[in-house]
Amino acid sequence: MSKVEPVTGQSEIVRKHKEFLFPAVATYYQEPLALVRGEGQYVWDDAGNRYLDCFGGVLTVSVGHANPKVNAAIIEQVKAIQHTSTLYANKPQSDLAEKLYQITPGRLKKTFFTNSGTEADDTAIHAAKTHTGRHEIVVLRHSYSGRSATALSAMGHSTWRPLPAQIAGIVHARAPYCYRCPFKLTYPECGLACANDIEELIMTTTTGEIAAFMAETILGVGGFIVPPPGYFERAVEIARNHGGLFIADEVQTAWGRTGDKWFGIEHWDVVPDIITSAKGMGNGVPIGMTTATPEVADSYPGLTFSTFGGNPVSMAAALAVIKVIEDDDLKRNAAVVGAHFRTRLEELKEKYPVIGDVRGLGLMQGMELVKDRETKEPDPQSVIKVFEETKRRGVLIGKGGLYANVIRTGVMLNSTKDTIDELIEALDAGLATV
Ligand SMILES: Cc1ncc(COP(=O)(O)O)c(C=O)c1O
Repeated sequence: MSKVEPVTGQSEIVRKHKEFLFPAVATYYQEPLALVRGEGQYVWDDAGNRYLDCFGGVLTVSVGHANPKVNAAIIEQVKAIQHTSTLYANKPQSDLAEKLYQITPGRLKKTFFTNSGTEADDTAIHAAKTHTGRHEIVVLRHSYSGRSATALSAMGHSTWRPLPAQIAGIVHARAPYCYRCPFKLTYPECGLACANDIEELIMTTTTGEIAAFMAETILGVGGFIVPPPGYFERAVEIARNHGGLFIADEVQTAWGRTGDKWFGIEHWDVVPDIITSAKGMGNGVPIGMTTATPEVADSYPGLTFSTFGGNPVSMAAALAVIKVIEDDDLKRNAAVVGAHFRTRLEELKEKYPVIGDVRGLGLMQGMELVKDRETKEPDPQSVIKVFEETKRRGVLIGKGGLYANVIRTGVMLNSTKDTIDELIEALDAGLATV
């Protein structure tokens, strides 16, 4: 394991970041890192230190930094044509839309491309409202959906919300957060109380008829909260009984991340009316997608446009990412290497009482740190200690959760068991400092 040399003097890049960017543009680590190069699973800072990147810029670099096949597709496309706007058709956009029709579940067929997860979720909400003629949306507490007025209103985190909700008609259901059950119950004796509560939520806080239920299949920023078996089947049944569509926010959970499936929702027996995604789809190029059934897409009224949405370069990158995932069987790899990772995390849990919960699917694994396993008091301070020690050992990880006490990871989909063992060694050393 490579030890990182302590940086003497402040990085010029970091100095300018602190002086000229909004202070709200938060960075990880006591001394922020400035990254200047990436290759495969590794990134380098401006002092020349190498790090094993186990977060991929928030589950976004999915098939490795500077993946040669993705880079080649980008370079070829830049040489051919870089920009068209959605006013003209372009081949990679048409091809990617067709590919999404082939790999998305159920009857999902037509796509609108944008630049980010925020826009993808906004588009989905607008489409659900225009299709149903209704305006109320059920979302989840602890969810994250981005930075627009709609996304900020839909989000379930005060920490990420600079203003009160600006969009009316969005109501927040209890999260399917088994480790901190909002009803203080235990699965399966709970009878899926969190899903059943959506019935009362709709009947008491809306007109009784909703446009959609929108949920991440695993609450990512919320700390990799995995809903229990049966949750989505019940929650979606209730939403549909009240006229609502089901929007699966797959911004973090798509592209094989959860193992064996293209989309996280495929681990439950329910088919969405709309899927949104972004992040890992482009391996780092800006991209967002909203894929809907023909009826939903066809009823989007008026004209709509996105300057950079569907731009040929992002589309070519996404086509290349999907091809790499298919050619290298990375959905399976995520399941196999993810299972190894989970076993190793459970071993750490045996060793360190500070680990209250280990959870995730495939290569989307995290652990929640607590001061006491009985009281479950969140322990964000220990997360900071683990962060500093893993960084010192040349390994980058992520965090999340309402209380900033969840260590999140997003290793590349083409990681090996050796990658995981290196990560575990660093986490072990980090936890030993707690
Ligand atoms: C589940 C989910 N939805 C939406 C978003 C917003 O995506 P973006 O930051 O690309 O706008 C995020 C970003 O982290 C996300 O995790």
